[in-house]
Amino acid sequence: MDIFDEVKDSIDQFHQELSELDVEERAIEDFRIKYLGKNGIISNYFNKFGQIPNDKKKEFGKLMNSFKNEANQAIESLHQKLNEKQTKQEFFDYTLPGVKPVEGSIHPLSKTMDDIASIFQDMGFSTELGPEIETDYYNFQALNFPENHPARDAQDTFFVDDKVVLRTHTSPIQVRTMEKQKPPIRILAPGRTFRNEAIDASHYCTFHQIEGLYIDEDVTFSELKTTLYLFVKKYFGEDVALRFRPSFFPFTEPSAEVDISCFKCGGIGDDCSLCKGSGWLEILGCGMVDPNVFKSSGIDPEKYTGYAFGMGIERIAMLKYGIDDIRLLYGSDKRFLQQFKQL
Ligand code: DAH
Repeated sequence: MDIFDEVKDSIDQFHQELSELDVEERAIEDFRIKYLGKNGIISNYFNKFGQIPNDKKKEFGKLMNSFKNEANQAIESLHQKLNEKQTKQEFFDYTLPGVKPVEGSIHPLSKTMDDIASIFQDMGFSTELGPEIETDYYNFQALNFPENHPARDAQDTFFVDDKVVLRTHTSPIQVRTMEKQKPPIRILAPGRTFRNEAIDASHYCTFHQIEGLYIDEDVTFSELKTTLYLFVKKYFGEDVALRFRPSFFPFTEPSAEVDISCFKCGGIGDDCSLCKGSGWLEILGCGMVDPNVFKSSGIDPEKYTGYAFGMGIERIAMLKYGIDDIRLLYGSDKRFLQQFKQL
């Protein structure tokens, strides 16, 4: 085969490879080196120029020049194609509307808990937690519940066995704290509680409470009143009034329930749907710690006095945000929860 045929085969081969080449940077560069590199096929033929008989030199030069030009053009157009391909891939349209990320919101109960806790934290209360599965001793006995008190009745309490219950309130944390700490004690105890009640718009089998306890020498009922007064003004608003109504709890003496003036009707009542016409809303129970509770917790009732209070978070959240069914707080309905995004 003479050198002309060899070159022509080479050109055919070049066309074949060109038609099958991937438009990728590495493949293009390899292809360029193979044909146009210093030791590439085309240079090698040019190096053979001296061996070509004189009368064929012109023809050979022409053939090789056209091969070289074609190869150069092919490489150039491959680079162009590569460029276009890359620009297309990298193109980002800044004017397109973005994909909105799914946005969660704080649950109204968490928000209520946090807001209430932070007001008392500012007054120097620290946080204590206790178990949700509690013994009869801490839930009732140490809190001065008489043996036959109706709250121990299976109607209200979920019993695990005859000595263990799901706590019906956060008050057992009072006793647990008094056993661990020496006065002065100033704690806030938030947590989940359970009651075996018929479920309806205002009752659920589980709910939350926040308990407060302050023990020191010479703690008085007026300090309790002031603390709760400051809390109510801060949480519900300066215009909201409060009243202390005598009440009974086994673990406090004297005991009171606190009502606030209805912030929907401004305390007028009439046919207000929130306060049912009374002008008042009950928000918590409180009192001075009963000496019997001190005794069961190892604190000297002759030396120390203290106050305690407890409030239901669901009830307060419902009042504050105008929620008329407690079950909504446990339903995980996004349409309900999303209304609290702005909180
Ligand atoms: N534990 C009571 C309840 O669940 C609420 C309560 C009342 C807590 C008076 C207290 C208190 O600390 O002093 O109904």
